This record gives sequence, C-alpha cells and structure tokens, in this order.
Amino acid sequence: MLNIVILAAGLGKRMQSHLPKVLHPVAGKPMLAHVLDAARALQPSRIVVVVGHGAEQVQAAFAGQPDLAFAVQSPQHGTGHAVQQAVPFLLDAHDSATLVLYGDVPLVQPETLQRLLNVRANGVAILTEQLPDATGYGRIVRSAQGQVQCIVEHKDATPEQQAIREVNTGILVAPTAHLKNWLGRITNNNAQGEYYLTDIIGLAVADAIVINTTQPEAPWETLGVNSRVQQAQIERLWQAEQANRLLLAGVTLLDPARFDLRGSLVCGRDVVIDIGCVFEGHVELADGVYVGPNCVVRNTTVGAGTRIEAFSHLDDAQVGAQARIGPYARLRPGADIRDDAHVGNFVEIKKSVLGQGSKANHLAYVGDALVGDRVNIGAGTITCNYDGVNKFQTIIEDDAFIGSDTQLVAPVRVGKGATLGAGTTLTRDAPAGQLTVSRPRQQTIENWKRPVRKP
Ligand code: UD1
Ligand code: CA
Repeated sequence: MLNIVILAAGLGKRMQSHLPKVLHPVAGKPMLAHVLDAARALQPSRIVVVVGHGAEQVQAAFAGQPDLAFAVQSPQHGTGHAVQQAVPFLLDAHDSATLVLYGDVPLVQPETLQRLLNVRANGVAILTEQLPDATGYGRIVRSAQGQVQCIVEHKDATPEQQAIREVNTGILVAPTAHLKNWLGRITNNNAQGEYYLTDIIGLAVADAIVINTTQPEAPWETLGVNSRVQQAQIERLWQAEQANRLLLAGVTLLDPARFDLRGSLVCGRDVVIDIGCVFEGHVELADGVYVGPNCVVRNTTVGAGTRIEAFSHLDDAQVGAQARIGPYARLRPGADIRDDAHVGNFVEIKKSVLGQGSKANHLAYVGDALVGDRVNIGAGTITCNYDGVNKFQTIIEDDAFIGSDTQLVAPVRVGKGATLGAGTTLTRDAPAGQLTVSRPRQQTIENWKRPVRKP
C-alpha cells in the first residue's frame, strides 16, 4: 500500500507573483498537476497535498479530484513539519510506504519513482544525485563501507561534509509506521530552526532500517522551480525532451527548438511540423499530415495527408483526410471539415460541417451550418447565424454554388445543386437546381453627365 505526500506549502517568494508557486505552469499545466500525474502513475492508495501559502487557491485549482486529500501547514516550520501535517491522512496497513514528492519539482518521471520504490526493500530509499556544485543541498553522508549514515543540510555541514557531491533531491520513500515514529522524534535544533524531514535518515540508521539510494534517469527530473528564470529553463528542457521523443518516433520537426507541446500529441508516420507551432490539449495528426509554420492547434484531430498551411488556428476541430486548411484559416469549436475539403485564407468556421470536397477558399464566415459535399462557397460569404439573441442554422445541400459576397440569413436552406448569384441576401430557402439571386437589376443611365464645379 502506497501513500504519496506532495509538499506544496512553500511561499515561492522569488516568483514575484500573486499566484501560488505550484500553480505556475510548465508546458501549459500547473507544476503541481505534473507531479500529480507522476504520482497517479504509481497507483497510490492515498495522495496528500500539503498546502500553506495560497492554500485556498491551490485547493480550488484541484477541487473535485476525489483521490486527493489536502493537509494545511500554516505556518511552515520545515519539510519534516510539513510531512507531520499529512500524517493523519496516511493509510497505515502493515506493509504501507509513504513517498514524499515536491510540488515545485514538476518533471520527475514515474519510471524513476518506480525504481525508487523497487530499491526500497521494505526500508527507506532516497533519490540522490551527484552534482558538481552541491551548494545549498542536503549532503548524503556515507560510512567507509558506503552505507548511508544521515543527511546533513548545507547550513549545518562541516567543511568535510560540504565537500560531498552526492545530494538529497528531497524525494524519498519510507515505511509509513516508522515514518510516523521518526517524525515524532525530530527536533528543530539546527542552523535554520526548522524540522527537517532529512533527520529521519539518522533515526532510521539508529533503528537498523536499510537505506538504499537510486538516481534519476535524467538530471532535469529533479530540478526545482524557485524563480521565473528556473521556470523558463525547465520549460525549454521539457520541450526539448518532448521534441526528442517525437523525432525518435518518426516525426519531422523542422526545428525542435521552435516547437511547443502543451498537452499530448499523437502522430502517425511521416508527419512534418514546421517551426513555431503550438499544440495544446490533445491533438492527433494522422499519417503524412503537414503543419506549416506558426500554427496553433488545440484539441483537434487531423486526417491523413491533410496540409495545414502557415498561420492557421484550429481549436476543438476535426479535419478529414487530404484536406487543405489555410494559410490564415480559423477553425473554431465544432468545425468538422470532411475529406478533400478546402478552407482558405481568412475563413472562419464554427460549429459547422463542411462536406467532402467542399471549398471555402477566401474570406468567409460559416457558423452553425451544415454544408454538404462538393459545395463551393464564394469569397465574402457569410452565414448570418445570430440575431443578437438566438443562433440559427444554415443548411446548404450537396453541389450547391454560393456566389461571392452572399449573406445567408438563417434559418435558411439552399437546395441540392442550387446556385446563388453573387451579392445575394438569402432570407428564404433557395430551391434545388435553380439560380436564386436577390440583387436589384443592373441599369445604365443614358446621357448621364457628371456634375461640374460651378464657376
Ligand atoms: C530540501 C532538503 C534538502 C534537499 C533540497 C532539494 C530538507 C530539510 N532539506 O532543502 O536536503 O537537498 O530540499 O531541493 O528537507 N516545504 C513545505 N513546507 C515547509 C518547507 C518546505 O511545504 O515548511 C516545501 C517547499 O514548498 C518545497 C519543498 O518543501 O516544495 C522543499 O522546500 P525547500 O525550502 O526548497 O527545501 P530546501 O531547504 O531547499
Ligand atoms: Ca529547494
């Protein structure tokens, strides 16, 4: 049985922000949410988040997640004191263990945490690291035989101990019953006057409990965020990691340093993504999709062979195969673009189907519309779907031709194969197969003279 305690009570003063530190995003998601993802991957029985500064805001951000318990630590008297606040929430069966994570160390990977659990062997396990410059970190003090003896904080360390390069990342796991006992025995008799979680290690050694260590796979996993500088660094490291994973999976990124994924991206074979694109939420790109430079794609699926040209914006949309979107297209929520359809520059589509092979190539607004197959929507066409209070639907049946600069005043229907003359303001249904046009007849005034300036 596994408990996970996430420490998230710290102030984060150097963020210079009203927002609690653990709510600041990395890759579009609060740091604490990253830690929770890693925690949940281990399928724990209980997750306790220790909150303090901005406690209400943090709790509100994660409200309605029934697997979370919140323990409030106010004021903050150190990491040991923080874990003490979580104790009443810990499940304590005989084989129970408790893993401690930090809410401001967002990139720790489940594989690393699983390895830490595996090396525990019913005792304690600490995630440690060798750092060229260990300033500020707790040092792992080992015996001549290499057994961990204790952790000594930088400020309490002797010069010999300060020379140690192996540091405590802060992440550790211990048997729950022992942990409770040790937490009841730690004191604040140290350089910072705090209750150090790290003091449990010395107590564990005295109780003859095995202490093992393991290291993270990648050094960025244990980087913490205390400032916006570190937040920005972690963002780039994580983006580089995500880009690398995609490259290894066969995706072409024209410049992996100019790629941002804030969510999840599933790609088929031979997908090409040009520079400056941002992917948010869950995006799926099928085989051979091309995404041109500077596109934003959010919660969208794109079918095989489709090209999304530069500067397009797709949000909650669905695009079929072999379609062409953009440049400068905007697909808003509910846009459903079918196979072989074309959506060109400065065309906005919202909550509408654009049927197979249909085209809206230039400057149009299509909202709340059902557009059939092989329809041509001319430049400047607008569905007038909104009377200021209610929204209405426009239906355009297969093979219709909508002349340029047409307004379709919904609710209205254009029959199969109908043609609308350019400039039509359609307020009643247009019958199938016929030309409907609503503009006044053109006339030429004979012998008309331009006015001339009076002398
Ligand atoms: C801690 C460790 C140190 C380790 C380092 C790694 C202790 C005593 N020291 O030091 O060995 O090398 O992390 O970064 O554990 N927090 C609370 N409540 C508190 C104090 C802290 O929730 O009262 C949270 C912070 O928000 C943060 C984490 O605990 O997420 C670590 O706190 P921090 O002050 O950064 O610990 P360090 O002194 O750096
Ligand atoms: Ca720290």
